[in-house]
Amino acid sequence: MAAFFYFMAFRFLLFCLLIFVSLFSIAQELSLVPKIESTATELKLYDTDLLPSSFHKGRREALRNLLPNRSVAVFFANPIRNRSNDVNYEYHQNPNFYYLSGLNEPNAVLLVFKDYIEIEGQRTNEIVFVQPRKPSEELWTGKRLGIEGVKNELGIATAFTSDSFADMSFDFSVIDSIFHDELRQDRMDDNTDRGDLASIQRHFLEKTNPLSEKRDGFSLKNLMGQLREVKLEEELVLLRKAIDLTCEAQKEVMRAVLPGMKEHQTEAIVECIFKNGGAEYPGFPSIVGGGENSCVLHYVTNRKTLLWDDLLVTDIGAEYHGYTADVTRTIPVSGEFSGEQKIIYQIVLEAQEAGIKAAKSGNKFWEPHNQAKEIIQKRLMELGIIKESKEVTQYFMHGSSHYLGLDVHDLGNYGNLTKGNVITVEPGIYIPKNAPCDPKWWNIGIRIEDDILITDGNPEILSACCPKLMHEIEALMKEESLFNSIITKD
Ligand code: GLY
Ligand code: MN
Ligand code: MN
Repeated sequence: MAAFFYFMAFRFLLFCLLIFVSLFSIAQELSLVPKIESTATELKLYDTDLLPSSFHKGRREALRNLLPNRSVAVFFANPIRNRSNDVNYEYHQNPNFYYLSGLNEPNAVLLVFKDYIEIEGQRTNEIVFVQPRKPSEELWTGKRLGIEGVKNELGIATAFTSDSFADMSFDFSVIDSIFHDELRQDRMDDNTDRGDLASIQRHFLEKTNPLSEKRDGFSLKNLMGQLREVKLEEELVLLRKAIDLTCEAQKEVMRAVLPGMKEHQTEAIVECIFKNGGAEYPGFPSIVGGGENSCVLHYVTNRKTLLWDDLLVTDIGAEYHGYTADVTRTIPVSGEFSGEQKIIYQIVLEAQEAGIKAAKSGNKFWEPHNQAKEIIQKRLMELGIIKESKEVTQYFMHGSSHYLGLDVHDLGNYGNLTKGNVITVEPGIYIPKNAPCDPKWWNIGIRIEDDILITDGNPEILSACCPKLMHEIEALMKEESLFNSIITKD
């Protein structure tokens, strides 16, 4: 009897399996289910070109080499920032924290020790405290790495949950110098959460208060600047990707812009190209300023209608896996530069080319700026726009360069340029309405910005794929844009 029962049950199961297999193959034939062949393929559903854990481990080791004996460097994850009511801003990690760990989660703290220490019975020289895995919260905000993920995927030797930071038994008095990254005040404080950033920072201060003379909140900026100002090959791959996407966006803006379009419509094109190409977000709010707004250095309102004789300054940068580009082009909305616009454009271009030429290993960081400024000074005097050279800062009022990397204005020590630095060269001339010169120059704002890799030899212009000669821009503006059919114009 039992044998008969097992025989019938086996036949029933076999029947079900056959039905399932046939339905599945029919569904696959009809493309009703995605053709995922194995778990290995599933991994490729997410980014496969993030910085490897070996990069972050190597950076922690490099930091250790710069730290003095018996010291520790403490880094806090960036706060979650509230936008309004129960909506927060999209999370962005503290670049130092990301550089050293690869972790993109909030409410965490990383300690990098110069020497091995003993904690909870473990010998280690690095500890990270991270948010615990918690299904009820992961349901809302997505998967967390947790202790195991941090150890296995990020390769950080020792990990605990952030709610245990308060009880950490480590005695800081054995340490001579406690370097710490910025203690952010712009954080929310959940009194019920022992592991949130506010609680971590409070406990850090409590634990180290008796030793406050050993605490140093300034020197890490310099140490991290030394590391971050020299890009490694893995970083350059991501930076090049961000810059290529940004040039693609600049070119599409050149093709699409027409009088009657709104500044925000060009911004939409830019950000569509960024996201479509895999950038997580813009590295800074996109600056798209037409006409009078071309003279506003960090204009981000982007609501004006573009007029026939406006210039349009587009200063944008895609952020790709943490690394941001920063490229500016200035174009005539009509498709052709006017006589006055051409004259000023040519001066900015000449200044920029001189600046780029000076972007050489061994030169002082500000040499490109000085070269560019000298040309602008000279040419504006020739045109009678200024009378004395010192008046140049009225129309060129910013530095021509900054480091570029995980931050758009990246950390670095502004000493001598060295191989592996990536900097911008971005002179500009801005002549607003009512400036004390012939009104024919008014509302001309022009900036040209490229991203430059310092090498042993000539500088490499990483954004060279983006045209900047006037005739190249005018030619590109005659091409059709992918976006022409969807953009409405006034
Ligand atoms: N995009 C901001 C800057 O050029 O510094
Ligand atoms: Mn810029
Ligand atoms: Mn810049």
